[in-house]
Amino acid sequence: MSGPNTDYDPVEVTPLKADEVEAMREAALAAIAGAADLAALKQVRLDHAGDRSPLALANREIGALPPQARKEAGQRVGQARGAVNQALAARQAVLEAEHEQRMLAEETVDVSLPTTRRRRGSRHPLTLQSELIADLFVAMGYEVAEGPVVEAEWLNFDALNLGPDHPARTMQDTFWTEPAEDHVVLRTQTSPVQARTMLTRTPPIYVVCPGRVFRTDEYDATHSPMFHQVEGLVVDEGISMAHLKGTLDHFASQLFGDGITTRFRPSYFPFTEPSAEVDVRCFVCRGGDGVAECRTCRGEGWIEWGGCGVVNPRVLVACGVDPEVYSGFAFGMGIDRSFMFRHHLEDLRPLFEGDVRWNSAFGTEI
Ligand code: DAH
Repeated sequence: MSGPNTDYDPVEVTPLKADEVEAMREAALAAIAGAADLAALKQVRLDHAGDRSPLALANREIGALPPQARKEAGQRVGQARGAVNQALAARQAVLEAEHEQRMLAEETVDVSLPTTRRRRGSRHPLTLQSELIADLFVAMGYEVAEGPVVEAEWLNFDALNLGPDHPARTMQDTFWTEPAEDHVVLRTQTSPVQARTMLTRTPPIYVVCPGRVFRTDEYDATHSPMFHQVEGLVVDEGISMAHLKGTLDHFASQLFGDGITTRFRPSYFPFTEPSAEVDVRCFVCRGGDGVAECRTCRGEGWIEWGGCGVVNPRVLVACGVDPEVYSGFAFGMGIDRSFMFRHHLEDLRPLFEGDVRWNSAFGTEI
């Protein structure tokens, strides 16, 4: 900035000369008109209207003029700056509108085009149900045990007190692999995992085993040649039927809702003595006033759930456990069945048909 100047001639303050100011203004307007896009305009704004632009610098010189000369110079510079700012704003508006138009044209989405996105998979409802059940038992200190689906006949039957001529063998229509002399079956139940566990571990044993089982059943709304069971086995000192009842009541209330209990009906399984069929309290009517009309339990108040009992000492002996020291309980439930009545399904077939749309209806998309 020039210093105080009492006897100055405004015409001599070069940046404030009319033709200088005019040239600055022309230069600015030309640059603005030439800015091809918003980024270029930003630079033009800095160069011609910024703090260090010629017009801004000229403006600062005004203060150095004596009062009588300031007005005219001030007007000249002020008008030029006003014109530049106006031109900037107008160009900005034009470029923004152009930019928007271009975006709209370039980013058009044709919603009628076929999608290339694949449908997301979903975890199978039965996998989730099995994991939920396993988790309930893990929370009680159990371990999850596993066994093969192609199983030795001896483990599937004999070790469980189902000798070759045992009439109960016919209760489970069996798939045999060839050649028959190999005595290999597709396991008909998850109970062979009991035998496997006792043969490989020493008590105390607390295991749960969800898995696939196979029987030569016709495929219809309530039968499938492949289905799922969950087996439980406890072997420890002093285990009784009372422990079994308490465990299954807890299991039922966790799976079907608070306060849902079980009842035992006397039954027969070769691997348990005594044995019982377990029913679970109907979680819809709870055996209360609405029981007569209840479609879930068909007016029974109870739903058949599985089998259970105190492990037969013959099974303990076959699996190398001393029945004088240890006793145990075991149970087996159908997972598909549990899923069906938990979700009020009449037909189990969709469970095995692999339709992702059906599976995801159970909120299992991942
Ligand atoms: N394995 C039996 C079945 O498939 C179910 C069962 C009953 C399992 C009693 C058990 C049990 O462990 O103790 O019909």
